[in-house]
Amino acid sequence: MSHLRLILLAVLSLVSSILSQPSATLIDCGASASSVIAGRSWQPDGDFISAGTSKNVSEQVLDQVLSTVRSFPAAATRRKFCYVVAVSRGWKYTIRTTYFYGGVNGKANPPPVFDQIVDGTLWGVVNTTADYAEGLASYYEGVFLAQGKSMSVCVASNSYTASDPFISALEVVRLDGSVYNSTEFGGFGLSLVARHAFGYSGPIIRFPDDEFDRFWEPYSLNSTVPNNRKLEVSGFWNLPPSRIFNTDLRATQVQPLEFTWPPMPLKNSVYYIALYFAHDSDSLDGGGSRVFDVSVNGVTYYKEVSVAPAGAVIFASRWPLEGQTTLKLSPRSGSTLPPLVNGGEMFELIALGGRTLVRDATALNAIKSSFKNVPVDWSGDPCMPKNYSWTGVTCSEGPRIRIVALNLTSMGLSGSLAPEVSRLTALSSIWLGNNSLSGSIPDFGSLKLLESVHLEDNRFSGTFPSFFSGVPRLRELFLQNNNLTGQVPSNLVQNPGLELRTSGNPFLTQPPR
Ligand SMILES: *[C@@H]1O[C@H](CO)[C@@H](O)[C@H](O)[C@H]1NC(C)=O
Ligand SMILES: *[C@@H]1O[C@H](CO)[C@@H](O)[C@H](O)[C@H]1NC(C)=O
Ligand SMILES: *[C@@H]1O[C@H](CO)[C@@H](O)[C@H](O)[C@H]1NC(C)=O
Ligand SMILES: *[C@@H]1O[C@H](CO)[C@@H](O)[C@H](O)[C@H]1NC(C)=O
Ligand SMILES: *[C@@H]1O[C@H](CO)[C@@H](O)[C@H](O)[C@H]1NC(C)=O
Ligand SMILES: *[C@@H]1O[C@H](CO)[C@@H](O)[C@H](O)[C@H]1NC(C)=O
Ligand SMILES: *[C@@H]1O[C@H](CO)[C@@H](O)[C@H](O)[C@H]1NC(C)=O
Ligand SMILES: *[C@@H]1O[C@H](CO)[C@@H](O)[C@H](O)[C@H]1NC(C)=O
Repeated sequence: MSHLRLILLAVLSLVSSILSQPSATLIDCGASASSVIAGRSWQPDGDFISAGTSKNVSEQVLDQVLSTVRSFPAAATRRKFCYVVAVSRGWKYTIRTTYFYGGVNGKANPPPVFDQIVDGTLWGVVNTTADYAEGLASYYEGVFLAQGKSMSVCVASNSYTASDPFISALEVVRLDGSVYNSTEFGGFGLSLVARHAFGYSGPIIRFPDDEFDRFWEPYSLNSTVPNNRKLEVSGFWNLPPSRIFNTDLRATQVQPLEFTWPPMPLKNSVYYIALYFAHDSDSLDGGGSRVFDVSVNGVTYYKEVSVAPAGAVIFASRWPLEGQTTLKLSPRSGSTLPPLVNGGEMFELIALGGRTLVRDATALNAIKSSFKNVPVDWSGDPCMPKNYSWTGVTCSEGPRIRIVALNLTSMGLSGSLAPEVSRLTALSSIWLGNNSLSGSIPDFGSLKLLESVHLEDNRFSGTFPSFFSGVPRLRELFLQNNNLTGQVPSNLVQNPGLELRTSGNPFLTQPPR
């Protein structure tokens, strides 16, 4: 059921940490200028997104990054608006989205509830209501694999969305390859539930203590004695900051330590759990032993954790949980020191939603580049998540997600139709009528499933293409009111199964009868 492993670190290396910025893209949404805050450089968001408008929050904020948002139109139909960030394929990234509403939709409107999406995966619902009522920003963090050269992070209206969705900040930070490496990132992402420094009560521990700027929140319980020692550790699995080992939760005597963690009830799902332990001066001097069993809700999670001077990490990659969670650390007989724990992380496993076949997505992006005035939601994954495909794009379901229809009728498009359309080999219909598209009609000869072509009421020019005769399933070919020249091929005119319209092309001639 669960994969359990214990890692004992043989050597405690005291490497001084390098305070350089990891490979990170920090985006200050809605901002017009870059800034450096606490040693980290933020960029304005104009290079990452074309949709939405920037707004100033009307309330005073301490954190400059929260002073602006990018706001997107709420829509009855599901539409996503995506930031697209360049990444290195095959690396894992921690993604943090931050939301501070600040009354941008009018003081009378409560904060909107909406969805957030990573690539083709519905990450979860953004509900900032409770935090905002306390004057706080909300943040969400997840870990996802870069499956291509870019990753998209999107917000989208859902059925609860009552006013315009918004976002304050987006951070995409590359993780070291070994971090959380027991997770099968080809099929799953991780969504943060809790990350705590136990026995600690100060401000959040983050960069530069944590090189990836993960947030370690304080978690102290009054029944335990916090211990403020200085302990430098490095080389731990998942690279937690050494500062979390300066405090702990521990039993007062050699007896079980039982506590609720995380603080809130969990929804029924599967979770990744990692717990971090390091040794303490009391046992370093005295030669005592600290050996205990760890159980979660009464189920043994790990037997005989022995906290050696180098420290220890235990983790479960897939642990099903629901409701309130209780951890219990029970000393083994013969253990002379009380059990303790320094830090914990818990993530929900999110099954990845799949993505558009890369070849189709690439072709559609080429088509997008040669169009002018494309719909504002044309970024991110064209098909996924389901129900969040780009305006006018219809996709197939199943393991190979293909683009099967394009319909951009009356969308005010100009520009030209890129020849890459010939690579969308699953297309059965192309409707681009009543736009201002110009240039020649590219070769659709490879589109063997094509049934319906509507290019009427545009400015297509050039000689009437000959390839249409070789499109086996063609039933409808609407080319009226363009500026095509040459002659309509007689085999098209004579095809009884084809509805052909070619009027309104002043220079086009009909075949001799
Ligand atoms: C936001 O504030 C800045 C400076 O305070 C101002 O220049 C900008 O015009 C404001 N933007 C909006 C959308 O109100
Ligand atoms: C959002 O959160 C608030 C406060 O926790 C809750 O009352 C409300 O039902 C939530 N809204 C949705 C749509 O989940
Ligand atoms: C994960 O990383 C650790 C530490 O670098 C390494 O010892 C371990 O073999 C890795 N595990 C996997 C499954 O790659
Ligand atoms: C610990 O917390 C509990 C519940 O919040 C409280 O009833 C109790 O008095 C506290 N104990 C101490 C020693 O502060
Ligand atoms: C997609 O939309 C349809 C119809 O609106 C709905 O029945 C279905 O549940 C939605 N699917 C998902 C995955 O949201
Ligand atoms: C394409 O969109 C237009 C306008 O929205 C609509 O009238 C037409 O029926 C659509 N065509 C197809 C094949 O869905
Ligand atoms: C053509 O498209 C424009 C928008 O670009 C729209 O206003 C107009 O009604 C459309 N015409 C027809 C006949 O659908
Ligand atoms: C239509 O095509 C003809 C012949 O190529 C050209 O002379 C004419 O300018 C074009 N008309 C428009 C409106 O583009």
